[in-house]
Amino acid sequence: MSKSRMAMQALLAFGTAVLAILIALRNPPSPATGHTSPGSGSFFDTVASRYDLINRIISLGMDTEWRRSAVDAALPAASVLDVSTGTGSLALAVAQRSPRTRVVGIDPSREMLALGLVKVAAGGKQFEKVHLQEAVAENLPFEDESFDAVVVAFGVRNFQRRDKGIGEMIRVLKVGGRLVVLELSTPAGKGVKDTVARLFINKAMPKIASLVSGNPAAYQYLSESMAKFPTSERFVEILRNSGLTMKAHRRLSPFGLGPDLYTAVKSSQSGR
Ligand SMILES: C[S@@+](CC[C@H](N)C(=O)[O-])C[C@H]1O[C@@H](n2cnc3c(N)ncnc32)[C@H](O)[C@@H]1O
Repeated sequence: MSKSRMAMQALLAFGTAVLAILIALRNPPSPATGHTSPGSGSFFDTVASRYDLINRIISLGMDTEWRRSAVDAALPAASVLDVSTGTGSLALAVAQRSPRTRVVGIDPSREMLALGLVKVAAGGKQFEKVHLQEAVAENLPFEDESFDAVVVAFGVRNFQRRDKGIGEMIRVLKVGGRLVVLELSTPAGKGVKDTVARLFINKAMPKIASLVSGNPAAYQYLSESMAKFPTSERFVEILRNSGLTMKAHRRLSPFGLGPDLYTAVKSSQSGR
């Protein structure tokens, strides 16, 4: 990425952060009520109204570009399932690029889905082949081998049972179909770059996100779940052990802050 582009993104992130803080101060969200298990659908209900904004800020404006890379990895495909679709950003990015593709997004958070449905309605004809529905990854309400590609962005960390969720995504994938996973983990290296990345992830990110979301506990979970997520090498191994053939794996942006993009293929029915 060129220096001028990075400077533009930093400026954009700064501007968005200032705007978000002003919005947060003017219009505090209602506090979360009741017990919500971190990462669950009801947990995301409590941050839904500000989720897209927080995402844009803590990714320094790069989240859209990251999802675009996931779309590149998944298409062409006649049908795509977006697991943990949230507010539908990835499902809609698929539909924008490939309007004839049937796109289904699933998520357990009703509040996140409600915002996604507003976006679908606003897109009119462009999104007529997009369908969003409530479900969890561990129990996908679809027949075996019903999708050409399955994508999941920043969702695998939230599965209550990761093995079961991965198994279900493979089950609904057609033989020859691609599983594309975009996921964050904390860089483990001892070098300066990884140390700075860890400081940002563990200290700055939760503070910015809890200020904007108005839910102090909410984004502590983000850095904790990133720390718990397997290293990228280990996650590649998990995908291979599930019977998939790895096609590609790369970290998407500099400074060790971006997500990993994993692309794997179901090469036989045993890949499940
Ligand atoms: C960080 S958001 C990602 C949303 C979206 N994919 C994006 O790119 O912005 C994580 C999502 O995972 C969902 N989630 C939580 N538990 C889940 C589960 N068991 N199965 C599927 N999704 C789950 C949450 O409701 C939330 O919408």
